[in-house]
Amino acid sequence: MKVVTTIQALTAEIQARKRDQQSIGLVPTMGYLHEGHLTLAKTARAENDVVVMSIFVNPTQFGPNEDFESYPRDLPQDTELAASAGVDIIFAPSVEEMYPYDGGIRIHAGEQATILCGASRPGHFDGVLQVVSKLFHLVQPTKAYFGQKDAQQVALIATMVRDFNYPLEMRVVPIVREEDGLAKSSRNVYLNEAERLEAPAIYEALQLARDSFLTNGDAENALMKAKAHIAAKTHGKIDYMELLAYPDLTPVTANTEQVLLATAVYIGSTRLIDNCIFNVK
Ligand code: PAJ
Repeated sequence: MKVVTTIQALTAEIQARKRDQQSIGLVPTMGYLHEGHLTLAKTARAENDVVVMSIFVNPTQFGPNEDFESYPRDLPQDTELAASAGVDIIFAPSVEEMYPYDGGIRIHAGEQATILCGASRPGHFDGVLQVVSKLFHLVQPTKAYFGQKDAQQVALIATMVRDFNYPLEMRVVPIVREEDGLAKSSRNVYLNEAERLEAPAIYEALQLARDSFLTNGDAENALMKAKAHIAAKTHGKIDYMELLAYPDLTPVTANTEQVLLATAVYIGSTRLIDNCIFNVK
């Protein structure tokens, strides 16, 4: 496995692989790898000749009061884990390497970014689309891999790929969880022992709401039950919990076939997100 940190070195690798007509799978990450990221890498391994993983904590997707500085980083450990998952090339650029110029041009994520995580993280998805767009151009992947864990991110990137004709296929991988149901996340390391014990209540709440909605179709009631569960089992504060039609992220109607039930909850000062997607027809 190779670790490259410059665009020049990455481009040389990509051009060589393209010349040999190899298919390229791209797994964009911010590092501090866990089983969720590695599942994306293993899926990419099975479906491509070459697997490129980017490891870059992207400053443009963090708000001024968010955790860009303190976001966990461990490139030596990530390198080992990525190699064990079959990654061929790690692209780990510096901030200066990724953003040497600022011509002032921005990607604006639009309506889909004004709800859910976008409502409490203004500009976040603009930054995600900016970096993902750059990575798509640099790596020229045949397929790009994303986790359902970030369902709104998937919806927005899929929209960008469709509307701007990026010549690649997006692949979405199901959420990987701890044994007690907590969705794996690099931010789980922020939880203290007591908070870690409370955190599985988030997924329990989603399951309660899903079962309730599937039984009687009453979204308000389903959300109420889930919120009550989180209130009873944690000291956490719910940022949002919503049921929306998927993948459009519009209100659920009688014609809705697939539903996204998504939540963000502060457990202590750590903001955790989770969701489930299910068929209603
Ligand atoms: P990051 O949070 O590091 O996540 C990288 C990828 O791993 C994302 O596609 C995310 O959905 C997926 N992932 C994280 N936890 C997962 C889990 N428990 N199960 C399955 N997949 C999981 O998302 C980002 O980075 C950034 O926004 C990025 C797309 C790299 C742009 O900077």
